[in-house]
Amino acid sequence: MARIKHSPGLTLQFQSVLITAVALMLWIQTLDAQSCNGLSHHFYYKSCPKAQAIIKSMVEDAVKKEARIAASLLRLHFHDCFVKGCDASLLLDDNASFTGEKTAIPNKNSLRGFEVVDKIKSNLEKACPGVVSCADILAVAARDSVAISGGPFWKVLLGRRDSRSASKSGANEDLPAPNSTHQTLETKFKLQGLNVVDLVALSGAHTIGLARCASFKQRLYNQTGNKPDQTLDTTYLKQLRTVCPQTGTDNNQTRPFDPVSPTKFDVNYYKNVVAGKGLLNSDEILYSTKGSRTAGFVKYYTTNTHAFFKQFAASMIKMGNISPLTGFHGEIRKNCRRIN
Ligand code: HEM
Ligand SMILES: *[C@@H]1O[C@H](CO)[C@@H](O)[C@H](O)[C@H]1NC(C)=O
Ligand SMILES: *[C@@H]1O[C@H](CO)[C@@H](O)[C@H](O)[C@H]1NC(C)=O
Ligand SMILES: *[C@@H]1O[C@H](CO)[C@@H](O)[C@H](O)[C@H]1NC(C)=O
Ligand SMILES: *[C@@H]1O[C@H](CO)[C@@H](O)[C@H](O)[C@H]1NC(C)=O
Repeated sequence: MARIKHSPGLTLQFQSVLITAVALMLWIQTLDAQSCNGLSHHFYYKSCPKAQAIIKSMVEDAVKKEARIAASLLRLHFHDCFVKGCDASLLLDDNASFTGEKTAIPNKNSLRGFEVVDKIKSNLEKACPGVVSCADILAVAARDSVAISGGPFWKVLLGRRDSRSASKSGANEDLPAPNSTHQTLETKFKLQGLNVVDLVALSGAHTIGLARCASFKQRLYNQTGNKPDQTLDTTYLKQLRTVCPQTGTDNNQTRPFDPVSPTKFDVNYYKNVVAGKGLLNSDEILYSTKGSRTAGFVKYYTTNTHAFFKQFAASMIKMGNISPLTGFHGEIRKNCRRIN
């Protein structure tokens, strides 16, 4: 009969395996500030300790000059992340031999804030040359814009690198449109790993900022069977029609998403939507689509600022984690408008 021999060597070996395992677990615990995709809260801790302070003070200055810029900066991060991930592909300028994303339909005549990003970048280049990515600038500037506007604060994961390419077709296909159907909105978010709760919470960004007539005119006149959108409050419809007549001024005229408090990050967006005063069709259908899961969340957030803020922060972190370039991928651009 065979006998299992317990040699002292084996026991020692087992002990050392155990010790290694415990050490490994402790080491993993120290990595808790790091997300699974290689981003971390303290990425610039040694290489550019002032990075976040510099970004914050420059966002503050910009918002003091023009309150709307907070909304514009927040939107830049969204439009960056939804196309090829949060890689600053959005910021690349077109030239004779290069076509970027700025001229895609959702971006053209619409995105703002690029000059502020340039200013932040040039200050960071002075403080720590070649260290802080344009993609991270967008993530931090978006967070600061929300916080300055009275919204939630969250710790931004850092370490994204900048792409060496852009995708105009991606910008046209992946970004939701103001006249997207409920199903399309859900699908476009799902493709980014975002669910219906993220969709409702992130749409709450429309509590600040403005939209051009071009973005909502269709529903004022020709929604279905050439009738205005029946979900629109009639008084609000009249106001919007006055600002946006059927012909002309598509790009020049704008309306605030939240006329009550256009620069304050609050739950008024949800209150407006429930009252039939959502500005975009994509806002209104989150509530008006019968049997949708989004409707309940819209209603819930109208009276739960804390729940909205908490979910908005969580969803922003999730959005900021979309396919970042890390390690040896991509580059740290010297100028956010062009590849090195
Ligand atoms: C749910 C799908 C979404 C659609 C269809 C959509 C569409 C739009 C449109 C059409 C505008 C007006 C653009 C113009 O007329 O120039 C706009 C503005 C804005 N969007 Fe969205 N958006 C969506 C989600 C988001 C998300 C997820 C965020 C950020 C987290 C966001 C932040 C903003 C902000 C802050 C503005 C105002 C920008 C400014 O005043 O410069 N949007 N959006
Ligand atoms: C949205 O508007 C665009 C441009 O006006 C139009 O081509 C498209 O068919 C519309 N989509 C929907 C779903 O109504
Ligand atoms: C509405 O439809 C009419 C007739 O089809 C068209 O002439 C007009 O340009 C449309 N307006 C908008 C804002 O889509
Ligand atoms: C719209 O704005 C552009 C650029 O600012 C200007 O050239 C144009 O005349 C304006 N159009 C109208 C109808 O106000
Ligand atoms: C055009 O833009 C691309 C991408 O930023 C850049 O690599 C290239 O050098 C630019 N070309 C010119 C002539 O500026």
